[in-house]
Amino acid sequence: MRAVRQHKFGGSSELYVSTNETKPTAGDNQILIRVHATALNRADLLLREGKYPGMKEAAHLGLEVSGVVDAVGEKANKWKIGDKVMALLPGGGYSEFAAVNQDHVMSIPQGFTFEKGAAIPEVWLTAYQLLHFVGNLQKGETVLIHGGGSGVGTAAVQLVTLAGAKAIVTAGTDEKTAFAKKLGAIDGFNYKKSEFKDLVLGATNGKGVNVILDCVGGSYWEQNAACLAVEGRWVVYGLLGGPNVNGPILGTVLRKRASILGTTLKARSDEYKASLIKAFADNALPHFNAGTTGKVLQPVIDRILPLDNIIDAHDYMATNKSNGKIVITVQE
Ligand SMILES: NC(=O)c1ccc[n+]([C@@H]2O[C@H](COP(=O)([O-])OP(=O)(O)OC[C@H]3O[C@@H](n4cnc5c(N)ncnc54)[C@H](OP(=O)(O)O)[C@@H]3O)[C@@H](O)[C@H]2O)c1
Repeated sequence: MRAVRQHKFGGSSELYVSTNETKPTAGDNQILIRVHATALNRADLLLREGKYPGMKEAAHLGLEVSGVVDAVGEKANKWKIGDKVMALLPGGGYSEFAAVNQDHVMSIPQGFTFEKGAAIPEVWLTAYQLLHFVGNLQKGETVLIHGGGSGVGTAAVQLVTLAGAKAIVTAGTDEKTAFAKKLGAIDGFNYKKSEFKDLVLGATNGKGVNVILDCVGGSYWEQNAACLAVEGRWVVYGLLGGPNVNGPILGTVLRKRASILGTTLKARSDEYKASLIKAFADNALPHFNAGTTGKVLQPVIDRILPLDNIIDAHDYMATNKSNGKIVITVQE
């Protein structure tokens, strides 16, 4: 089968499409998916370079797929051959076939293409986890979402609105902040034009935000500390702006009775992922169809490229220009 491999850790030019890989088989509790599409995640760039925290050896890239069930393991009873599914993977999604724990699989929303399905698992599950499993979001609260045009950010804005809360984003272009407002954000600030802290305080009548979804870290800490509300939850899930903080951050924690919470989805146990996927499938997935509620969630896709263009896809993500997901078609 065809699958993306890499010569060694390093730049995108280390990636290549191998045509001679062994097709995986479904373990007892697994299903085998004939992959139609996969998608990029920011972690893929770190994994490719060997810089993902805690990693010891090269991993096959690809944290999510959509496709059709091709085989089921002996003890797997939740899916049948031919089902159209999307799945969260520990890796190996840039491939024509992927074996996955049957509890890490969801049905593709009715009427969705495989490309749209592949754009859902990693970033929507991450956003759902950050808001509801970690950030304890309550109706009526305000959430500051950095990386408002990222895959995770575009999902988080919609999930915040669905929860009856208010989203404010930061992003690096006016186009991205305007798009986030179309998705439901009440405000959006271009962090390249001005500091966001006073704008966020202004938008919240000086109270600050109840939750911050922070994928930036070090370079934003002072502004985050300034615009977090009393008893706010500051959820750190990425370090695009570095890991170091040099200043009185603990003063803010004490004075505002704030919580700083860190999380990574990839490192979680199979059981945790299964419970997250069940909660997401029960509470959010039905809203991807106009159907009963009238509230419609949409995966945001920036562009779709074929597997052969995997290097272009990685290079494009690294430019920070993408708004939403970069999806890869694996087979027609
Ligand atoms: N902890 C977890 O479980 C988990 C899971 C999934 C993703 N993540 C993290 O979530 C983040 C988003 O992932 P993704 O796949 O959605 O990424 P993505 O679609 O590639 O979007 C990332 C965006 O962040 C912005 N950005 C980059 N460097 C920045 C900086 N130094 N300061 C401010 N903004 C910066 C860029 O947009 P603009 O500069 O134009 O705004 C870039 O397009 C990443 O940090 C990723 O590692 C964490």
